[in-house]
Amino acid sequence: MIDAYGRNVTYLRLSVTELCNLRCRYCMPEEGVPKRSHFDLLTEDEMILAVRAAAAIGVNKVRITGGEPLTKPNILSICRRVAQVEGIVDTAITTNAVMLPALATPLREAGIRRVNISLDTLNPEKYAFITRRGNLHDAWKGIRAALDAGFDKVKINVVLIGGFNDDEIPALAALTQQEPVDVRFIELMPMPGDTLLGEDAYIPASRVLSALPEAVPAGGHDGVAQLYRLPGAKGCIGLISPLSNHFCGECNRLRLTADGHVKPCLHSGDEISIKGLDYEGMVAALRRAVGMKPREHETLSATQRSHAERTMNQIGG
Ligand code: 5AD
Ligand code: SF4
Repeated sequence: MIDAYGRNVTYLRLSVTELCNLRCRYCMPEEGVPKRSHFDLLTEDEMILAVRAAAAIGVNKVRITGGEPLTKPNILSICRRVAQVEGIVDTAITTNAVMLPALATPLREAGIRRVNISLDTLNPEKYAFITRRGNLHDAWKGIRAALDAGFDKVKINVVLIGGFNDDEIPALAALTQQEPVDVRFIELMPMPGDTLLGEDAYIPASRVLSALPEAVPAGGHDGVAQLYRLPGAKGCIGLISPLSNHFCGECNRLRLTADGHVKPCLHSGDEISIKGLDYEGMVAALRRAVGMKPREHETLSATQRSHAERTMNQIGG
């Protein structure tokens, strides 16, 4: 479906849980978030109905997110059923990889084609710091499992944090030369509920290019990422710049939260509940959400924070 500004909305981000086994400082508070009652969460059947409704208005790609989607006990069933919805040609997942050793191959068999993995540092102490409870070794085992499972694509998402991982840009980018992975650097967004990382943490993605003089443009973009490549690399380097360079003009997405709210824009508090609706009701609600997509979000910076009104783990990235 085409929105009021001529953008074709073809992509749904489906958050299946707010819960996570990590506590990344830019994403959620240390104590986690209060667990919602089952009555507030979408059931598996409602999620599938929502994906069918989304397909009916022109969505053809679904990304399953969280929280950490792999902590959801019925994740394989959700993935299998989403991938089978008529009109959905591409089903992907975003994960912190910790649970991938057991789940990578079953996810592939369930019809997941592509996996994005969050990894902000190659240093075990820094990984434990930023995730507050993670173990880098576990994440690596998960990345290995994803590479072995035969997905069409494995991407590593790095949230770029000044004073934390900007010194690791060359080492992180070099992963594209060592493995068949894309590495995408994402500008840190000031979200509700994050643990403030200080003004210096918000650095532009252009810093990546300064640190990689040998990177050359790889021709165009992949979704919202500008692509570059290192000499001899198997994968691309992507720059995702929500702060320094709005990509709202190319925004083709809707988000559905685990508690059944459609978000027309990541950085707006506007939401439409679809919990308890039947198929026709969901189609109508999704159309309304597309109609509500703003032309662009307000400027984000260290001092101008997102109006999302939810923490990142409650939205799904
Ligand atoms: N800024 C940028 N990216 C974020 N993510 C979570 N919170 C933020 C933030 N404040 C990223 C995660 C993951 C994806 C789902 O969203 O690192 O890769
Ligand atoms: Fe969990 Fe991902 Fe948020 Fe980290 S960024 S706490 S892995 S949902």
